[in-house]
Parts: sequence; structure tokens; C-alpha cells
Amino acid sequence: MFEVYFESDSPAQTAEFGQKLGERLQGGDVVLLKGDLGAGKTALAKGIAKGLGVEQTLTSPTFTLIQEYPVRQYSDKTDPLGENGIVQKKITLVHMDLYRLHHPEEAEVIGVEEHFQPDKVCVIEWPEVAEEFLPEDALTVELAGSGDERRRILVFSRDSGWEARLGTINK
Ligand SMILES: Nc1ncnc2c1ncn2[C@@H]1O[C@H](COP(=O)(O)OP(=O)(O)O)[C@@H](O)[C@H]1O
Ligand SMILES: [Mg+2]
Repeated sequence: MFEVYFESDSPAQTAEFGQKLGERLQGGDVVLLKGDLGAGKTALAKGIAKGLGVEQTLTSPTFTLIQEYPVRQYSDKTDPLGENGIVQKKITLVHMDLYRLHHPEEAEVIGVEEHFQPDKVCVIEWPEVAEEFLPEDALTVELAGSGDERRRILVFSRDSGWEARLGTINK
């Protein structure tokens, strides 16, 4: 079990928190954004995209359901096969908004599960409908608060492996 808590006083602070999260994400990660309409899920997702190094501006994928963004190449020195021990790997940010789905079968049909790949970071707004497909080690970000209220942001996972990467993200 992993858990951190953060409070945000503005959309900019929420995006900054998302950016710090994005900087710490890697291929294969699945981030679930929960909270009511207007809680700040998309604001946080915009920050995640920035933190990952996405150059395009992330927009709400409500009509497309799934939107992919190329992440700038990054070096991975752990692969010994590359030149000078450095391999350029390309990852993709997959931003989903499942608000319009009502049945798990729909999530299956649009291929939610097929995006859970080592070269993709998935960020999913309204993930509840896809519950049965979600990986055990997914990270959940729950946002509470509306209007001009301060947002309470709880970040947690069943997988304590997140502690090493995100333990100090709220500091
Ligand atoms: N602290 C805050 N964090 C995020 N959004 C906030 C905050 N305070 C006010 N807002 C407003 O709340 C709305 C959040 O919208 P959005 O990110 O699209 O929500 P969601 O994707 O959860 O429906 C925006 O209009 C934003 O300006
Ligand atoms: Mg949204």
C-alpha cells in the first residue's frame, strides 16, 4: 500500500503537481484519475503530459475517448545493446476519458486493455467502468472539491513500489 496527500489552491498548482507526477512516470504505468466533473482531472492530466515532455497541449478527450501523444525520446542506459550503452526509446502517453461509457463491454470494445504496454503511459479519467481490466499496480489519484474550493488530492496504490518514486512528491 502506498499513499500520499496533497492540497491544491489553484488550477496551476494542480497542474504543477501533475507535472511532478509526470516527471516520475515511466512506460507501463497506469494512472487512474477519479473525482466528480470539474474536480480537476483534466487539469492534472495536462500537468502529467508536460512532465512527461509532451509538446502538444493535452485536451479533454471526451469525444474521442482515447487520445495518444508522442513523448519525446528518452535514453535508457539499462539496455546494453545500444550504442555506448544508450538506447533511444520512444513512449506514448495515452489519455482516456471513459465518462461516456456505461458498460465494461464498451471499454473492452474500444480496446482500453490493449494500451497497457511497456512503451505506453496510460492516464485514465473516469476509469470505474473499466475496473475489471485495470492492472493491480495502477496508481489512483482521487480529486475532491469543486468550484473555487481547495482541491484535496489523494494518490494511492496497492503496490508499495510507488513509494520510491513518489514518496516525496507532496513535499
Ligand atoms: N485547485 C484547483 N485545481 C484544479 N482545478 C481547479 C482548482 N480550482 C478551480 N479549478 C477549476 O475547476 C475546473 C476543473 O476542470 P477539469 O480539470 O476539466 O475537471 P475534470 O476533468 O475533473 O472534469 C477548471 O475550471 C478549473 O479552473
Ligand atoms: Mg476531464
